[in-house]
Amino acid sequence: MAKQKNVFFCKECGYEASKWMGQCPACKSWDTFVEEKPLNTAEKRRGTAFLTEPEPLAKINTTENNRITTGLQEMDRVLGGGIVIGSLVLVGGDPGIGKSTLLLQICRELTDKMHRVLYISGEESLQQIKMRADRLGVFRGDLLLLSETNLDNIEEIIRKDKPEIVVIDSIQTMYKEDIGAAPGSVSQVRETTGVLMHLAKGLDISIFIVGHVTKEGVVAGPRVLEHMVDTVLYFEGEDKASYRILRAVKNRFGSTNEIGVFEMQDQGLREVLNPSEFMLQGKPEGEPGSVVAASMEGTRPILVEVQALVCQTNFNMPRRTAAGTDYNRVNLLMAVLEKRVGIQMSGMDAYVNVAGGMKINEPALDLAIVLALLSSYRNLALDEHTICFGEIGLTGEIRGVGMAEQRVMEAEKMGFHTCILPKTNADNIKKSGMKLIGVKNIKELNRLFN
Ligand code: TYD
Ligand code: MG
Repeated sequence: MAKQKNVFFCKECGYEASKWMGQCPACKSWDTFVEEKPLNTAEKRRGTAFLTEPEPLAKINTTENNRITTGLQEMDRVLGGGIVIGSLVLVGGDPGIGKSTLLLQICRELTDKMHRVLYISGEESLQQIKMRADRLGVFRGDLLLLSETNLDNIEEIIRKDKPEIVVIDSIQTMYKEDIGAAPGSVSQVRETTGVLMHLAKGLDISIFIVGHVTKEGVVAGPRVLEHMVDTVLYFEGEDKASYRILRAVKNRFGSTNEIGVFEMQDQGLREVLNPSEFMLQGKPEGEPGSVVAASMEGTRPILVEVQALVCQTNFNMPRRTAAGTDYNRVNLLMAVLEKRVGIQMSGMDAYVNVAGGMKINEPALDLAIVLALLSSYRNLALDEHTICFGEIGLTGEIRGVGMAEQRVMEAEKMGFHTCILPKTNADNIKKSGMKLIGVKNIKELNRLFN
């Protein structure tokens, strides 16, 4: 018999090739090929097929109650209204961001509501999980714990115990014996996820899979994993900031625009039900260079503070930085200011920062960035009860943005009373308790300071 040759997989997208390549032909990333043992055909075939008969669409029953609410509002919103029974959810994120903590808290809420939950950890011993649980507070329900990495054993236990919800922490530690590769390798991650998918769909169990993100910003064997699961959630946050954002990047059962906001505290994660209030904590009052913007995250308006500092440069080339927003966008907006308003920005250093550590790439933030730059340049503060939003074009025109009404309503709720917004948006808002200042061109912005 001919010796079985090893194959090469792309770590990023799972592309399979018979020889090593510098660049992956499928996802175009460089230096991502790793050598692994090939899967034999029987294993391959078991991947996706379900052994059932075709059924007419009309005969398939869907019950109304096919979602389980977790009790954490932020989580339910991101999932699209609770956990869909029989769904496979991937929770990705950097190591140490709080994935295990989040899932353990969900387990607590679920067991409180008398659901049967099994938490399987391949990373921590039972004692360590218990220590974390103690830190989170009282667990009233009966949460089943298992410390195991062999997926064959896990499969057997799941089939025997039939829990409603299973957590696998993390997929990179799980392995199947008959696959020669090491845990965390592309073939292991792919095969183990395949088995879990089968269990989820076959037994109507909802399974959460934790996946660590590698340096490149993707879960190892990631796109393979992403298209196998129903929902992909990313848990992200700044290193220093305590808040965490849960974001859906794929959701077969809901929108991918929603975010959930949490704060990491000593006793676990706390839901932040009013992110605007959280983001505006510590905002200076009446200071030049500080402006509040109304931004949208999905269907949810969030007010954030945009800060700018403009000062004479000491270098040949002025320094510019942008934290929490797009650097190139800031440069572009400065060029527009220079050309259309006639402000000499080329001799100026400029630092722009979205306070609180949020990352916002929405064009509606443009107006806030420009106002903050102008405010700092002229050393004049904007009225502190003012918010703004609007997109700015290259000719200096201020263009309308979506969901203007929601933004204005959020600002009103948070106690602001003036809103600077695109003229087209202002004309469309019929009734508002706020004073609306519609602007058409950035030339008009100068008169807002005095
Ligand atoms: P963890 O959930 O272990 O991260 P992951 O599973 O994503 O790797 O979170 C670990 C971090 O969270 C750690 O730095 C400590 C911090 N933490 C708290 O601040 N408060 C808490 O109550 C807990 C349990 C963890
Ligand atoms: Mg963990």
